[in-house]
Amino acid sequence: MGSIIENTPTLLQVSPLPQEDGKKTNFGAVVDGLDLNNISDRDVQALKETIWKHKVIIVRGQKSLQPVKQWELVTRFDPDAPQVHSHGDVKSFNKFGGLLSKSRDVLGIPGAENVRLIGKGYQGADHYGIKDKTVKKPLSHDWHATKLSQDEFDSGHTRFQRWHIDAPLYERDPAWFTTLRCIKRPTEPKVTVHWDDGSGQTMEVEPGLTAFFSNVQTYELMTPEEQKVADHSWVEYAPRPYTWMGECRGNPNGLGVASEGREKSLEELGDWDPAHVKRYPMVWVNPVTGEKAFMVHGICARRVFLRSSPDEEPRMVDDVAEIRRWLKPIQERVLKPEYIMLPSVQEGDIVMWANWQCFHTAVDYPDAYGPRTMHQANIGASSAPVGPVPIPVLA
Ligand SMILES: [Fe+2]
Repeated sequence: MGSIIENTPTLLQVSPLPQEDGKKTNFGAVVDGLDLNNISDRDVQALKETIWKHKVIIVRGQKSLQPVKQWELVTRFDPDAPQVHSHGDVKSFNKFGGLLSKSRDVLGIPGAENVRLIGKGYQGADHYGIKDKTVKKPLSHDWHATKLSQDEFDSGHTRFQRWHIDAPLYERDPAWFTTLRCIKRPTEPKVTVHWDDGSGQTMEVEPGLTAFFSNVQTYELMTPEEQKVADHSWVEYAPRPYTWMGECRGNPNGLGVASEGREKSLEELGDWDPAHVKRYPMVWVNPVTGEKAFMVHGICARRVFLRSSPDEEPRMVDDVAEIRRWLKPIQERVLKPEYIMLPSVQEGDIVMWANWQCFHTAVDYPDAYGPRTMHQANIGASSAPVGPVPIPVLA
């Protein structure tokens, strides 16, 4: 893609986030100077390159953004993409969303249905045409294999809900970016995220934020041998993956699922089209910076094909427990407080992230802290992720 706006003046003021004490994160920036209701093509291009470069950005000052303009921006980021949310319309999301839709309320904003209301609690008498709505099924840690008691949760002990990328991994390609506008959230008191996996790790954070880690950093933490395998190998995701793993239970640190034999058989999935099954390289190359990110969405992976060079015969692994055992130590290396960032978004900020470069997760908080209202939009990309070396089209 390359930079076509280098040295061209734009309205964007980009300030990389200062590194907090004890942190090792090397991503994140704040963007000022834009009115997203009225943005030029040049600034759309500049914003796009800023997201690829900094991975997670916070665009300040968008309190009056119209939902239809948020969707318009998303389509202008990727004008060749089919004009629909990466998870399809709300109706098909609720039908086929499996794990993603069974335990949450997802509503399209009237007149801008591809912008999704995500939140918790009472949304007001008239929220952009949504009347008197109370979101009763917020994202939470309910699906974890080990339970958290209500009393502990109410006292501010929380968890990472589910580390993921926003990706259907079937039929449509994962969105390059996700945009999430903060309309309302509580800012205090703080909650404490517990890994609850025996590691004893915790983080104290403001409520209502989204957590991120960079999979460029995951890649950098891999050994040269692991990187060689990752560079040349690929993953095949299950057909209708969130239905396939819809009964699986998550690890308490939010990363990966427990291997309990709860995956559905392919016959149980009903109608699915082999042509829509996705095979992606394990490493996705950043189209602007050339950085490599280790991008394996383990919870949906059904088979992996491992090799260390382009001409080696790949070893196919279809035992999901073995796949997860291989992934766990690699992906947990980055799952440490020093590599995790929860940018502090204020009401009117939009966080935008390079979905092809990082993992993110919600962090739930006690209901008593008050409601949360976010507008989320992304678009299934016009292109599939590209690895450092080509992978066979059919395996
Ligand atoms: Fe997400």
